[in-house]
Amino acid sequence: MTTHKIAVIAGDGIGPEVIDEGIKVLNAVAAKDGSFKFEFTHFPWGCEYYKENGYMMPADGIETLSKFDAIFLGAVGAPGVPDHISLWDLLLIIRKSFDQYINLRPVKLLKGAPCPLKDAKVEDIDMVFVRENTEGEYAGSGSWLFKGKENEVVIQDGVFSRKGCERVIRYAYELAKSQGKSLTSISKANALNYSMVFWDQIFAEVGKAYPEVKTYSYLVDAASMFMVKVPKRFEVVVTSNLFGDILTDLGAAIAGGMGLAAGANLNPERKFPSMFEPIHGSAPDIAGTGKANPLATVWSASQLLDFFGHEDWGKRLIDIIEEVLTEEKVLTPDLGGTATCSEVGDEVVRKI
Ligand code: NAD
Ligand code: IPM
Ligand code: MN
Repeated sequence: MTTHKIAVIAGDGIGPEVIDEGIKVLNAVAAKDGSFKFEFTHFPWGCEYYKENGYMMPADGIETLSKFDAIFLGAVGAPGVPDHISLWDLLLIIRKSFDQYINLRPVKLLKGAPCPLKDAKVEDIDMVFVRENTEGEYAGSGSWLFKGKENEVVIQDGVFSRKGCERVIRYAYELAKSQGKSLTSISKANALNYSMVFWDQIFAEVGKAYPEVKTYSYLVDAASMFMVKVPKRFEVVVTSNLFGDILTDLGAAIAGGMGLAAGANLNPERKFPSMFEPIHGSAPDIAGTGKANPLATVWSASQLLDFFGHEDWGKRLIDIIEEVLTEEKVLTPDLGGTATCSEVGDEVVRKI
């Protein structure tokens, strides 16, 4: 029997609530299948831990996590701890340290999911974002000069390396090719006259090896408009770290809401563990109320199953989410229901 060793960082706010359901679901899948099992190891890292210890995770945290096959993360961030500390010292440092340079985020309208776009059909919203996940606007490079003085200056660098751009763009081409889909690059070369000119150039260069892939290149402002007006234009999408962050929350909004948006932080070479997480945050406004929707986490669990080669189960979980949505019997308040987070998790388990 194969054992998948998973490090769990439930984190803050609704993180622990949704992760409990994700674990319940993964254990139910393994029990039903019988050929593999999960071994979950919990790490109490997050903002409470920070308040007690003065750091988000111990100095050897990355070393500790490196021994696992994958990481399952809830959400990080809580009032009282500056976001740039809590996120940089836990989530972002994991993405970077483990070279999880692909952030794969499906933006797919499932059957039964609410959509604010008039007349949109499920087949109109079926895209996958390949977000660069280790550099770009999130490189963490910059300086803060003359702090607190009249001549204070802040510089935040965007760092776009040839290697960093080529590998994410190549991954997106490969994905589009394997699925027979078009590939859209989203950038902003009219204003960002170094980074995005470079990005566009690499998109064209890498594309020479993929003549069969139909490509589009949009400016990010126009792309955000088209995602709302004509979402059908987008199939596989590749974009930079910050644009991908913003556009996938927009994607969540058109595909059922934050409670249904999943993401996988992948190190495709599998040299380091990959990390699976819902893309939403710790939602302090609903934490502790039982209102959190765990389906985004279940979808991330489906991505985890795909990653471990259990694609049949990955697909089954998506089918089950669709069943739960279309039956409309057990849904959390964000989807118009009255069920709690754990009742939705139980319903998914019952269907497994
Ligand atoms: P958020 O995603 O936490 O919440 C935005 C809105 O969506 C809120 O109204 C919230 O109630 C709702 N929402 C989010 N997830 C939901 C779910 N599963 N079910 C139902 N409703 C849900 O974003 P925010 O409020 O901007 O950020 C809150 C904190 O989370 C901040 O500290 C932020 O830095 C952090 N954050 C962390 C991550 C992460 O850990 N991956 C991602 C985004 C934000
Ligand atoms: C996300 C989040 C993170 C990001 C934050 C919390 C640093 O918004 O995963 O989408 O911007 O990548
Ligand atoms: Mn985000």
